[in-house]
Amino acid sequence: MSGGSRLDPWVDSYAARARGMTASEIRALFAVASRPEVVSLAGGMPYVQALPLDILAETASRLIRERGTQVLQYGSGQGDVTLREQILDVMSEVGITAHPDDIVVTTGSQMALDLVTRVFCDPGDVVLVEAPSYVGALGVFRSYECDIVHVAMDAEGLVPSALDAAIIAARADGKRVKMIYTIPSFHNPAGVTQGPQRRQDILAIAQREGVLLLEDDPYGLLGFEGPPPRAIRADDDQQVVYLGSFSKTIASGLRVGWAVAPHGVREKLVLAAESAVLCPSNYAQFTVSDYLATQPWREQVKVFRELYRERRDAMLETLDQLMPAGTTWTHPQGGFYSWLTLPEGLDSKAMLPRAIAALVAYVPGTGFYVDGQGRAHLRLSYCYPDPDRIREGVRRLAGVIESELELAQTFGTGHVLRDGDGSDNPAPNVL
Ligand SMILES: Cc1ncc(COP(=O)(O)O)c(C=O)c1O
Repeated sequence: MSGGSRLDPWVDSYAARARGMTASEIRALFAVASRPEVVSLAGGMPYVQALPLDILAETASRLIRERGTQVLQYGSGQGDVTLREQILDVMSEVGITAHPDDIVVTTGSQMALDLVTRVFCDPGDVVLVEAPSYVGALGVFRSYECDIVHVAMDAEGLVPSALDAAIIAARADGKRVKMIYTIPSFHNPAGVTQGPQRRQDILAIAQREGVLLLEDDPYGLLGFEGPPPRAIRADDDQQVVYLGSFSKTIASGLRVGWAVAPHGVREKLVLAAESAVLCPSNYAQFTVSDYLATQPWREQVKVFRELYRERRDAMLETLDQLMPAGTTWTHPQGGFYSWLTLPEGLDSKAMLPRAIAALVAYVPGTGFYVDGQGRAHLRLSYCYPDPDRIREGVRRLAGVIESELELAQTFGTGHVLRDGDGSDNPAPNVL
């Protein structure tokens, strides 16, 4: 398409829900950001180079040789039962006990997010999400025309009193509050983690108010300090739907995730899954299952943890050394991300083209909100570039922020839009 001037003849035919499906205006910038000379601190791609690729290649070919007629056939809509049993073992790491029948295997946990929303939410139903929240979840909630309400976070994640207030306010407005969506461990994008008491307080609110708690936990095993945090689902098997994923502990390209849900919800999720995809890929499921059965997967998770810890340290040390006064950032204890707050008056969205010109990329904070907030923030990820590249990227970013500060001092900050300016806020097409 040339120049973006061709009109889409189908525009009047789309369903109302397609209105919320908009491409990011920064997508074009990300095409530039993927050039090798740019240090990208933007994407959330796991470092799959650290996997035992030879072993996975051997597994994949052996599966087809020895069990090809099963592996290449349709399977169960709920997912392979052996894999579901193995998932119980994986979830024991975060304190969850369940039955294989409670699990639905999905095409990544992204699909589980879609299924849960499809089963629970009518247009206009309120979904409470953290401020900021995961881009991919916001996209799902938007596509089902949910009323997305951001709830404040602090250094320990979702703030219970703010959650309470949001439920009261939504109900006073005559709205139905359907879900609380939370990422308790190593948050994307905020890089913070709920402590045990915080988790209990949030669960208590969900229980008291009768609102489903959707616990999204793709990073739970990737903590750098101490054992994995105990999942909220470990303390309540009726109030919580838990989402897990092999994307960060094995390989995102296999697209294997899962949901654990109370019996009735699980039945609905299977029916919704069947209507979406008939069944998850047998090939991908058997690959994961074989890998879990024959490889020291816990050791591999440890390899990932060490690798990401080293990268986190490289990022935090360099931020400490080089960032101008007035810049702050979170200190993640696991996962992939740190959330940076710019000095007063700077705007992460306006600054992005200048950062890319300086050969460093990040995700502006606006992508993680649906209401125009986020210009004072940006997300930095340390999962993919090696430590030296991370140091170089942070050095370039510090230079860009310095220049922005000089500009702001020369011309004032009156022109800079800040949070709550009501501007449009498309989600970037990144994790
Ligand atoms: C918080 C969160 N939830 C869900 C997902 C989706 O993961 P999956 O690859 O399992 O679909 C991601 C991916 O980055 C994520 O960060």
